[in-house]
Amino acid sequence: MFYFGADYYPEHWPEERWAEDARLMREAGCNVVRLAEFAWSRLEPRAGEFRFDWLDRALEVLGTHGIRAVLGTPTAAPPPWLCTTYPEILRVREDGVRVTLGHRRQYCPNHPTYRQLSRRIVAAMAEHYRDHPAVIGWQIDNEFGERCYCEVCREAFHAWLQRRYGTLERLNDAWGTIFWSQVYNDWAEIPLPLSTGGVPNPGLDLDFRRFMSDSYVSYQQEQVDILRAACPRHFITHNFMGIYYDRINYFDLARALDLVAWDNYPVNPWNAEPRADPTIVALSHDTMRGLKGKNFWVLEEQCSAGGWQTIGYAPRPGETRLWTYQAIAHGAEAVVYFRWRSARFGTEQYWHGILDHDARPRRRYCEVKQVGEELARIGGRLAGGEVRSEVALILSYDSRFAFQVQANNPEFSYPELLLAYYRALYRRNVPTDVAPPEADLSRYKVVLAPALHVVTPEIAENLRRYVTGGGTLLLTCRSGVKDVANKVVDLPLPGLLAELCGVEVEEYHSLYPSEAQPLAFTLPGLGDAGARPLARVWCDILKEEGMQAQVLARYTADYFAGHPAIALHKVGRGRVVYVGTVGDGNLCQALADWLIREAGVQPLLATPSEVEVTARWYDGRGRLFFVLNHGREAAPLQLDRAYRDLLSGRTLSGLIALPAREALILEEA
Ligand code: GAL
Repeated sequence: MFYFGADYYPEHWPEERWAEDARLMREAGCNVVRLAEFAWSRLEPRAGEFRFDWLDRALEVLGTHGIRAVLGTPTAAPPPWLCTTYPEILRVREDGVRVTLGHRRQYCPNHPTYRQLSRRIVAAMAEHYRDHPAVIGWQIDNEFGERCYCEVCREAFHAWLQRRYGTLERLNDAWGTIFWSQVYNDWAEIPLPLSTGGVPNPGLDLDFRRFMSDSYVSYQQEQVDILRAACPRHFITHNFMGIYYDRINYFDLARALDLVAWDNYPVNPWNAEPRADPTIVALSHDTMRGLKGKNFWVLEEQCSAGGWQTIGYAPRPGETRLWTYQAIAHGAEAVVYFRWRSARFGTEQYWHGILDHDARPRRRYCEVKQVGEELARIGGRLAGGEVRSEVALILSYDSRFAFQVQANNPEFSYPELLLAYYRALYRRNVPTDVAPPEADLSRYKVVLAPALHVVTPEIAENLRRYVTGGGTLLLTCRSGVKDVANKVVDLPLPGLLAELCGVEVEEYHSLYPSEAQPLAFTLPGLGDAGARPLARVWCDILKEEGMQAQVLARYTADYFAGHPAIALHKVGRGRVVYVGTVGDGNLCQALADWLIREAGVQPLLATPSEVEVTARWYDGRGRLFFVLNHGREAAPLQLDRAYRDLLSGRTLSGLIALPAREALILEEA
C-alpha cells in the first residue's frame, strides 16, 4: 500500500465541514492524513483536563472515508496556560534573553517540568488511541531544533560534561583551558557559549552543540518510550528537515525511530530565485534515506505557495506532481502534502494548501487528484523498492558543528562542499547514498568524504579498512585537522589520514575570492572533458619530496605555481585521492567523472542536464527507472532499449521528447 494524503487541521474548521473535506480527500485518492501536531490547547485545554472527543469525531469522519491517520504529539506548541503557569520552561536564546509566548518551539528541551508535562499529554494520547483502527503511527513533536541557553541547560550541560570527561583535569586538558586563563576548578564554573561571552573556546563550543543535539535526542526518547510501550502496532517517526538543517545530529535523532519522515519545500518563500534546485532536493532525499539506511516518508510536501508575511513561489502546473515522483524516486514510501486547506487565521494564513481559503477545488486540487489516481493504480508496484548506490557521500555532524564554530574561510561552507560533489554525481545520474563516517563502507565502489574535519582513530581506521579492501576514497583539504575535542592535531596534515593519503601538507593558505587560480592536471584522462577547473577558498601545498602519492594536478599561479594540489595514492587494491583545495564545480565534475570511470561505477543513463534518472530495485522484479524533466522545455532523451512507462502505459524506445516537468516510470519491456 502506498500512503498518499495531506496534513489536516480539523480544529481549524467548523465540524460541519469535515465530512466534505474527507469526501474531497477520498476523491483525490488520499488514504492518510497527519493530525493534531499543534493541537495541545484543544487536547488539554486546562492542566490535566484531556479532551479527545473532537479528535475522535474527526477520526471517525475520516475513517468512514477509508482515511488513516498519523497523530502528531503536540509538544512543539505548548499552550498559554502551560507557559504562564511555568514561565521557567521558556527557552533562553543565545543572547541570554528568554523567549516570550506567542510563537511555537518556545520550550527548553531539558526542563524537567516541561518534560513531565510532555510525558503526561503523550501518555494520555497513547492510552486513548492505542487501539484506534484509523491510527497507524505517530509523529513526535514538529521539526526539533532551537538551542536553549537557560540555567537548567547549563546544569544539564555540566552533568553531560562530567559523563564525557569524568574529571575536570581531563576536560581542561581536552579544551586547552590554559589559553586565556580559563582553567576550571569546579564544574559549576563552566559557562554556556552565550553571545555575550564573546568567541568561546572551540572545545566548549563543539561540546555544547553536541550536548544540545543530545538534549533533543533524549527529549524525543521519552516520548518514544511511552508510545512504544502503549502502541506496539504503530510506527513512530519525527519530521526532519533535509540537508540544510544543522543543529541536531540527525543520525542520532533517527536511531530510536521506526522510520524517518521529512518536510520537503523545494521553493520556500526565502529562496532567492523562483525555481527549485532539484539537486538540493535530491541530496535532501538521499540524506533522509541515509539516516537509517532505509526508505522514508515525506510528511510535508510542498503543493502551493508558502508565506508568512510575504508570499513565495507557487508551483507551476505539473511541478507538485514532478516533486512527488522525485520523492518516490529517491525512496519515499508515502507523500503527504502540506497542507489540506489554506488557513484563514494565524501566522501561516498565507502558507497555501491544496485548497484555497474558500475551499473551492481548483488547479492544485486537480493535480493532486491526478497523482492520487496514478498512485491508486501503480502505488502497489512502487512500494518497497530499494535505491541501490555504488557511491557514498560522508556526512559528519562533528565536522559540521566544528565548521560552525570556525568556518576556516569566509567563503567556506561544509554543506555547500558536499552539495558540489553530489551535484557532479547527480549530473551523471549516479545514485548516491549519504552515510556517517563510522558506517560500514564495504559495499561502495567510491566514497567521498570532503572536508572530514574531526577525525577519531576509529574513523581513520574505518577509512583505512575500506581502502585496503579495494575502495576508492576522496578526501579534501581541511580533513583530519581536528581531534574529537576540537583541538588541532599535532601531526602533519591531514593528521590521522596522512599515511592513508600518502601526502603531507607542507603549507596551507586560506584564499581570498580574488586569489582563485586555474589548476593544471598532470594525468591524461582527468579533466579532459570539462572547462578548466579553479582552485579556490583553500590551497594546501603538498610536499613533493618523498611523496608516496602520484601528483594529479598542480597550482599555476602565485607562490603556489608548480606545487602539487591533488594527489593519488594507490593502497593495495584501493586508492585515495587527496584534493588540497575546495575548488569549483568544474573541479568536482572532473574528479567525479574520473573516479566513477576508474572505479567502474555505472551511471544509470546519459541525459540532458535538466533530466534526472534514478532507480529503485524490487526483489525478483528488476528495477524501475524514474525519469524526471525538471526543465522548463521539452528534453530529448535517448533510450537504450524498449521500456514500458507505468504512468501512461505506453511502450517507449529510441529517441523521445520528454515534455517539461514530465515524469516517466520505466520498466524494462
Ligand atoms: C514546516 C512546519 C509546518 C509549517 C510549514 C510552513 O517547516 O513543519 O508546521 O510551519 O513549515 O511554514
